[in-house]
Amino acid sequence: MIYFDNSATTKPHPEVIESFAKVSANYFANPSSIHPLGGQVEKLLEAARQQAADLIGVPKETIIFTSGGTEGNNTAIKGVALEHQSRGKHIITTQAEHPSIHDTCRSLEKLGFEITYMPVAEDGTVSAADVENSIRKDTILVTMMQVNNEIGAIQPIEEIGNVLKKHPKVLFHVDAVQGLGKVPLNLSDTGVDLCTFSGHKIHGLKGTGLLYVNHTAKLYPLLHGGSQESGIRSGTENVAGAVSFVKALRLVKEKQDIQEDNILKTLHDKLMEELSQLEGVKINSPADGANHIIHFSVPGIKPEVIIHSLSQKEIYISTKSACSSRDLTESQVLVACGKTKEVSSSGLRVSFSYENTEEEVDIFVKELKKAIQQFKEVLR
Ligand SMILES: Cc1ncc(COP(=O)(O)O)c(C=O)c1O
Repeated sequence: MIYFDNSATTKPHPEVIESFAKVSANYFANPSSIHPLGGQVEKLLEAARQQAADLIGVPKETIIFTSGGTEGNNTAIKGVALEHQSRGKHIITTQAEHPSIHDTCRSLEKLGFEITYMPVAEDGTVSAADVENSIRKDTILVTMMQVNNEIGAIQPIEEIGNVLKKHPKVLFHVDAVQGLGKVPLNLSDTGVDLCTFSGHKIHGLKGTGLLYVNHTAKLYPLLHGGSQESGIRSGTENVAGAVSFVKALRLVKEKQDIQEDNILKTLHDKLMEELSQLEGVKINSPADGANHIIHFSVPGIKPEVIIHSLSQKEIYISTKSACSSRDLTESQVLVACGKTKEVSSSGLRVSFSYENTEEEVDIFVKELKKAIQQFKEVLR
């Protein structure tokens, strides 16, 4: 099997599964219980929080454990909107966001918020100057992803953060779900107030993740109840999920730090080179995008046909984001990047993990060539 769909989800690391099972079995008490069993579990949870904070380079109090990317983005965006609406009801985002940002912003329009959906350049990025020009007196939030989940475009987060430091009343939320463990992001002193991470994109478990909330960002909670997680996310904590998430985070950070062989870059450059020589293939990812995501189109051939053909060889890739891949219309990200309908409705995404190899890329290219040839003959 060749698994090239790591931006949809990754295979959980055995050590992550083991830590989830161990904590579930041995530390089952409620961390809020005042008896010693509860105390032990609370200690474990707080140790996990400290470790997560150290790995990300932020203070422990800023870590809120969540169920993943969708929850993190909703908590941040709706939380800022509802808490700060008396100051203003204007939010800035881009036209190339994941549905968990885009649809959240759309939902706020129904509550009277005004959203600026900034156009992106052909490479999927926005400039810090354009973000600044979009700021109004009533702007309360800028929200966008670090690494685009479809084409791998990397937004200039640190530049935007620096510009936003001049506008302290405008909070900055970053969705770093696709960048975690692969594309560096410094959260200390870069103007980022809120940042979303998800466990299942880094060989952790589905339903795990965290939201970084710095001390200046006050949020209206989505979930009210027992005031767990600093009151931002009530509900008995998923301690096994949090501990297993931190395990996945440590493992992926180790991979990111080693990087002597820079496997992701090797795979990226090899596949980009091969695809650039394939007749009928158009590469949609920017050359300087993230190394682990490559998006391309084969105009004239339905992407699901190629996916099906590759699946028969046990090679797994996807069309666009997993959340919208069953929706067979155009990719809104490619439309935002100014691609034609033909290109934006025939996109395919390859996404690597540190476990993939050059040999797998060779096999993939060979089978892709065969599939394209086969369908061209049928269409002739
Ligand atoms: C950029 C981005 N943000 C958010 C999400 C949602 O994350 P989760 O599946 O953990 O809810 C995804 C998942 O594909 C994503 O790619």
